[in-house]
Amino acid sequence: MERSEESYGETPEATCEGAGFYRTSVLRHYDWWVHGVSNALIWRVPTGELTQLYRQNMTACHLEVGVGTGKFLSKALSREWGGELLLVDGSHDCLEWATRRLERQGIQVASSLQVDLSSPASTMIALEPKFQSAGLNYVLHCLSGQTAKDRAVQFVRRRLCPTGALFGSTLIGTPSTPFLPARWLERRYQNLGIFNNQNDSVESVRQLFDNHFEDVSCRQYGRAVFFRAAIPKAD
Ligand SMILES: C[S@@+](CC[C@H](N)C(=O)[O-])C[C@H]1O[C@@H](n2cnc3c(N)ncnc32)[C@H](O)[C@@H]1O
Repeated sequence: MERSEESYGETPEATCEGAGFYRTSVLRHYDWWVHGVSNALIWRVPTGELTQLYRQNMTACHLEVGVGTGKFLSKALSREWGGELLLVDGSHDCLEWATRRLERQGIQVASSLQVDLSSPASTMIALEPKFQSAGLNYVLHCLSGQTAKDRAVQFVRRRLCPTGALFGSTLIGTPSTPFLPARWLERRYQNLGIFNNQNDSVESVRQLFDNHFEDVSCRQYGRAVFFRAAIPKAD
């Protein structure tokens, strides 16, 4: 299968809010730090449950948005999978890293798109609404403000087929946690602009998906809200 790579809008890393941080030098340590140490010890999020979420919800026509290192795709898929996979991210380094990782495993990436999800142009990109599943994991807490988060969900909603479902998780910043290491790290990341989740709560996450989908379920694990949103609403 021929793989295509495209870039939309103004997506130089420095101006792509939330994605500029995810360069190769960070990705080298990302899985170990985020899904190893901080999930277990700081956010109290079971990484194994995230892998399960992917295993249970991925279909043969999948859109992965905010791909990072591609860890969960790599865990959920095997060489025999043979489906269609489109990767979307604001960081060129993430797209390259994840594609190489999956291809080393024998998993074909059909195409990748470099898109700034927080830009108004992102929702307009012409892309067939054919995907049966979409992953959006640990992306919403990077995006600043409700408008940007809403655009990211809209971006996905418009690319899903009528029976498609979006799933993933996001770290919330409210109410504030009594666990001091989590509170400290959350503030530090918020001050650095890595997290933009000061106003995110279980209720605000649910509302975000209720605006765009008919069938929404959310459950909390530690500082994360896991979600699944099915039956995209019409524009
Ligand atoms: C915290 S990482 C999560 C990576 C992966 N999904 C995971 O669960 O490990 C956030 C991802 O979202 C991407 N991202 C953040 N802001 C973005 C934006 N404005 N547009 C597109 N991608 C963005 C980053 O480049 C990165 O790949």
